Amino acid sequence: MQDRVVRGFRGSGVPRFWFGRRGLGVTLVVVLAVSSVRASTGQTAAAPGAQTTRDKVYSKEQAARGGKLYVATCRSCHDPGHLAEGKKPGPELTGDKFLTKWSGHKLGELHTNILTTMPNDGSAFLDDDQTADILAYLLQANGFPDGASALKSNTTGKDVLIVK
Ligand code: HEC
Repeated sequence: MQDRVVRGFRGSGVPRFWFGRRGLGVTLVVVLAVSSVRASTGQTAAAPGAQTTRDKVYSKEQAARGGKLYVATCRSCHDPGHLAEGKKPGPELTGDKFLTKWSGHKLGELHTNILTTMPNDGSAFLDDDQTADILAYLLQANGFPDGASALKSNTTGKDVLIVK
């Protein structure tokens, strides 16, 4: 696609300076910007019938498991009421600010984010299922309803759209 756009410019009588070093850089930035807008629109547009975080995507038992893990491995940095001394606090994981930031993204992205970066002091290493349990807890803590089945990290959970 990039190829075609660049050729399009060339063929459309765009002045020569476009293809100087700087000009090409600008062209690339434009091309990249256009494709990332496309990518993010694709992401937010839920396919018909796609699940969102309102669709009872985790179970109460799972959230309870996740809650224990949260207390043991996350709370000391993420809960203003329980901050541990000497640890760099992180943002709150409940509430409007958090949901505004993540809405429009897939639960799978949040899962990967937690799995690969948290806790960021190396105090624990979570596996896929533990991370899914913590996600269930975070959904509960953010007021989303629970349902009959647990969130599976790599199948049902991945494409669930986070909404506010
Ligand atoms: C030692 C402190 C610490 C611990 C423990 C910790 N975090 Fe974090 N977390 C941070 C900080 C600081 C940030 C801000 C981003 C950064 O600097 O990496 C963050 C960012 C995040 C974010 C992104 C927040 C946003 O607004 O997008 C999520 C999600 C998250 N942490 C989840 C967790 C979970 C789940 C755990 C427990 C498994 C955990 N963190 C444990 C410090 C911590």
